[in-house]
Amino acid sequence: MQHSTSEKTRVDPSNPETIPKFVDELPIPAIAKPNRMVNENDPYYAIEMKEAKHQFHKYFPATTIWGYNGMYPGPTFHVKKDETIKVKWMNRLPSQHLLPIDRTLHGTSHSPDVRTVVHVHGAHVASDSDGHPDAWFTRNFKIRGETFKQKVYEYTNHQMGATLWYHDHALGITRLNVYSGLVGFYLIRDPLEEELQLPSSEYEIPLMIQDKSFNPDGSLFYPENTNPPAEVNPSVVPAFIGNTIVVNGKVWPFLKLEPRKYRFRLVNASNTNGYTLKFENDHPFYQIGTDGGLLPEPVKLNSLALEPAERADIIVDFSTLNGQSLILKNSNDEGDLGFIMQFRVVLPLSEKDMSKIPSSLCTDEPLTEEMATKTRLLTVGATIDQYNRPMLLLDHRMWDDPVTETPSLNSVEIWKFINTTPFAHPIHVHLVQFKILHRRPFNLDRFLEDGYIQYTGPAIEPNDNEKGWKDTVRADPGMVTSIIMRFENFTGDYVWHCHILEHEDYDMMRPMKVIE
Ligand code: C2O
Ligand code: CU
Ligand code: CU
Repeated sequence: MQHSTSEKTRVDPSNPETIPKFVDELPIPAIAKPNRMVNENDPYYAIEMKEAKHQFHKYFPATTIWGYNGMYPGPTFHVKKDETIKVKWMNRLPSQHLLPIDRTLHGTSHSPDVRTVVHVHGAHVASDSDGHPDAWFTRNFKIRGETFKQKVYEYTNHQMGATLWYHDHALGITRLNVYSGLVGFYLIRDPLEEELQLPSSEYEIPLMIQDKSFNPDGSLFYPENTNPPAEVNPSVVPAFIGNTIVVNGKVWPFLKLEPRKYRFRLVNASNTNGYTLKFENDHPFYQIGTDGGLLPEPVKLNSLALEPAERADIIVDFSTLNGQSLILKNSNDEGDLGFIMQFRVVLPLSEKDMSKIPSSLCTDEPLTEEMATKTRLLTVGATIDQYNRPMLLLDHRMWDDPVTETPSLNSVEIWKFINTTPFAHPIHVHLVQFKILHRRPFNLDRFLEDGYIQYTGPAIEPNDNEKGWKDTVRADPGMVTSIIMRFENFTGDYVWHCHILEHEDYDMMRPMKVIE
């Protein structure tokens, strides 16, 4: 114990070199419990956003966070496919934000109180329950000065079983609210899944990966200004990457395992950071699901790229690793940032592992290019804003320019994201799950000159583990990334945006309206 006391005194939360890794056990977020049933049988949840203290690391002082029910991550929703649930989201946050607000952004002048709105990412949901960035509310339940009748959201869960997640979406401060801790899992269960005998109950574990930085006193660090003027640094675009990795709320945790198969539900809930996940010794694993549900068949992998908001459902077999430990890393191995967490195969096998990695997982109705009635060309590009800062835009438009993406109900559309910036952007569309058609290299200079798309090579198929349903796609630089989707069941106001939260808040977000 002497050892840990001395370790503790050396720890400076602001300096990752001093933070010992793998000393905290991975927590499993609590399951959200309905408060009661309404309309006969619909589970009804009441969730409060509250300030609370959170222990990120055994040797840190407690940190003030914001959490759903005061927890970080928030409670995990477990819902059944096609089961309607209602959630009353309540803002009980203090009036002062935990983190510095950039008052030049849309939305930030609307209310002196902290604004929140909850979005279930990946949900096929009615517009008034989607958590539109303008549908924010404050703790006084006022919207733009008017008293706001507290909103109960309804989720019909009429979609495939999937790993969804919920998070804050308030205009202009999404990056701050999410970073403060307003995130959680939302898992939709499909009865068909049971028949597949995937690893389940304690062998099925959600993993939420985020990066964070801390001040020496253990409080959350977030910079005053993520977007300096161009004269300060013309190449800088808004971004923030923390210097520690936090999984399910602990900094570089470990997990004790039995020598058997496990199923992990991964979400990259980071603000900016993308990861290429890899186990030590290139230990293989199988991806069985994407953002929107199960893949047609498992895909064997040694590494997995996960951009912000992307999810992966994977099975890892630890049966040959009895007594060993295995580190999950970010394979670009930039020093300490290279590690995610550690798996220790040290528990006795409690029963024979009867779980399976089935050879086929689900059958799937294809969307073909012939079905599309509209193709939209959408630039993912940059400009300079009125403050002389580089600004990222979609389709050359600002958030509050009139809506231009207005798909008709029941139509199939192809959207082509033409990335003219030097880096990848994870582009997310609300309401739908889509398929990636392909990515195709194009002549950037020509495009910037006269707007003509001159392809410079053949279309590249998505990777095998991107062939399932997606709601977020990596739009690579120098590529035109094409997706296809059907707009069904709901009309009204939604959004699409880059899911790098610093980009989203700095205007890389556009309205979308599904019309009759
Ligand atoms: Cu994960 Cu528009 O959101
Ligand atoms: Cu979303
Ligand atoms: Cu972006």
